Amino acid sequence: MKTIIKKASEESVEEACRLIKSGDVVAVPTETVYGIAANAFDGEAIKKIFKAKGRPQDNPLIVHISDMDMLNDVVKSVPKDAYALADAFWPGPLTMIMPKGDKVAEETCAGLDSVGVRMPSNPIAHEIILRSGLPFAAPSANISGRPSPTNAADVFFDMDGRLPLIIDGGECFAGVESTVVSLLGENPIVLRPGYITKEDMQAVLGKEVLLSAAITQGVKDGDEVLSPGMKYKHYAPNAQVYIVDGDFDAFKAYVCAKKGDGVFCLCFDGEEKELPVECVTYGKKERADEQAHNLFNALRRLDDKKASIVYARRPDKSGVGLAVYNRLIRAAAFRVIKL
Ligand code: TXA
Ligand code: MG
Repeated sequence: MKTIIKKASEESVEEACRLIKSGDVVAVPTETVYGIAANAFDGEAIKKIFKAKGRPQDNPLIVHISDMDMLNDVVKSVPKDAYALADAFWPGPLTMIMPKGDKVAEETCAGLDSVGVRMPSNPIAHEIILRSGLPFAAPSANISGRPSPTNAADVFFDMDGRLPLIIDGGECFAGVESTVVSLLGENPIVLRPGYITKEDMQAVLGKEVLLSAAITQGVKDGDEVLSPGMKYKHYAPNAQVYIVDGDFDAFKAYVCAKKGDGVFCLCFDGEEKELPVECVTYGKKERADEQAHNLFNALRRLDDKKASIVYARRPDKSGVGLAVYNRLIRAAAFRVIKL
């Protein structure tokens, strides 16, 4: 199959809608990362997403809607908290898990009776849903296990030959995937941290929002898994990544002792000048939003440079930083060196 990249335009958006309506897949930009979109109601179309990504069959997809009317087409009922959260954060990078509506294909939710729903704020994604009249299911547009793509060229790198069309909408705003929050219980539970934080949601709801333990720890055999995506290897570049947890002087001393062929650092802006090995930077130390925006791109650039070992500076875990830490610790397969 030939894969074509087209800049977002009247014509390319029309073509994306045609592909979705005819049961095919198309890569589209969102405000978080690029996604592979297909009609959420069409099980056969959804199977093509799983095939293109090489995604495990038991990992459910997120359904993207254009407006609140469409929400009623994809869920069985709307939990009370969902209205307040939608009011505050939709359109935007927040996915809410709710009881699944009958029209949504079994394949979309990997057989679960719940569905993850979000309303993207990216105008191209919004336009495609609006014009096709269909909610699309879309996982991140990477080969399963690799860093999520935040620009069209990175989508092409993974998806060349696997889907017909990539709509190029430039660089994604957030750079990490949406926050996933389950609304199935009494208190909301964050299953995947993102740009919208637990504190943001607590401020709106006036009640406690819980964090799933799996956010910062690995899922062990036998653990109950609320979000199937959390048990797989994720976001990993080809290199072995290690988070080196300590202050900058300790980090520098550690890296000095380890320098050699293929050894790289993933560090904060400005630190590269003081380190003895080649570095890729991922934002200012105190700016979690910049780190979120740059992280996946930085991991892919380390692959371009053929890094084999990467020592990474640990991001702060507060606010949006928790999303950065969650992605990086998975990219590092939970290897943390405490100094
Ligand atoms: O920002 C995003 O959410 C991007 C863009 C393309 O919208 N999409 C994305 O999809 O990150 P994906 O498939 O890479 O991640 C979906 C996550 C997985 O961890 C999955 O397990 C979880 O959401 N999820 C989806 N439906 C679920 C459900 N019903 N219950 C629990 N977790 C669910
Ligand atoms: Mg993903």
